[in-house]
Amino acid sequence: MSDEEVDFRALSDLATPWCVRVVATLGVAEHMAAGVTHVDELARKADCDGDSLARVLRHLVDKGLFQEPAEAEFTLNEPARVLLDPRVRGGLDLDGSAGRLAGAWSGLLAAVRTGRPTYERVFGLPFWQDLEANPDIAASYDRLMGLQGRGVPDPAILVDDDWADVRHVVDVGGGTGAMLAEILRAHPRVRGTLVDLPRTVARSAEVFEAAGVADRVTVSGQSFLDPLPGGADVYLLASVLLDWPDDQAITLLTRCAEAAAPNGRVVVIGGVTPGSAASKGALVLMVMTGGRTRNLDQFRALAAKAGLTVTASGQGPSGRFIVESRPA
Ligand SMILES: C[S@@+](CC[C@H](N)C(=O)[O-])C[C@H]1O[C@@H](n2cnc3c(N)ncnc32)[C@H](O)[C@@H]1O
Repeated sequence: MSDEEVDFRALSDLATPWCVRVVATLGVAEHMAAGVTHVDELARKADCDGDSLARVLRHLVDKGLFQEPAEAEFTLNEPARVLLDPRVRGGLDLDGSAGRLAGAWSGLLAAVRTGRPTYERVFGLPFWQDLEANPDIAASYDRLMGLQGRGVPDPAILVDDDWADVRHVVDVGGGTGAMLAEILRAHPRVRGTLVDLPRTVARSAEVFEAAGVADRVTVSGQSFLDPLPGGADVYLLASVLLDWPDDQAITLLTRCAEAAAPNGRVVVIGGVTPGSAASKGALVLMVMTGGRTRNLDQFRALAAKAGLTVTASGQGPSGRFIVESRPA
């Protein structure tokens, strides 16, 4: 990007991201889609202050989101229609776990100063404990991670897509089961085990029922830092390892290595980037949990400490990088 293309004002503006989240949380776009346009009526429907809402909406109109065709009348334009997608709205809803994510950014300076996650300073408890203490926030996090938030996952989780020797997959930290359900649907001879925290696996039954795979699934509500169900061919860690700092990431990989069948493998998707280039992304983990993305070399070193050797890696059909390792 050339120097002229960098818009410093846009880079440093805090107003717009918050205004977008506020209107998403208030469901303003949905009310407009239902035909409500006057700001007083919008405010009544959204149970908020009309003058304040008008100021927020005018800021967004200036930025190209929504239109104000007449004084105090606000309507959707094409960019604003994106807010009608429940998945987009869920990812911005300040009343749910997205609000925790947004608020956690205020700890970034302290995180950079200390090299430690700062979520607890902002919300009083470390991230996972905060979810445990707040069931509504935890439920919204599970939704955001599940079908309602991420859509239908890609079941092609093996580098060579060869399932001949696979009979049993354990989805470790598999949330409410969306990924495992797709895997079992794609591979009728495979059975699955979902491992996640008790409150999360408790929400999985309907996912497996809807996919027609409930008879081939067992669930284990437990911490994945404790011993895992043993003897499976594949231990899947999808968007999980990156949540954790090195010490716990090694424990998690060790649990998988200990549990795997003699010829079993551990499959990591999400959070590992190819080669040795510095991996970017998942910056928010710096404040949330102290987790990080890792390049393949860094992952290899971590895996070795857990008794695993990387045996294959490559880009999956959905573009995500897949890393397979086996007990050394
Ligand atoms: C980022 S989500 C990934 C979910 C899913 N694998 C996916 O790809 O959408 C991380 C998952 O780890 C689970 N988790 C966090 N700490 C855990 C623990 N100690 N034991 C088991 N599961 C845990 C969370 O409940 C959540 O479902």
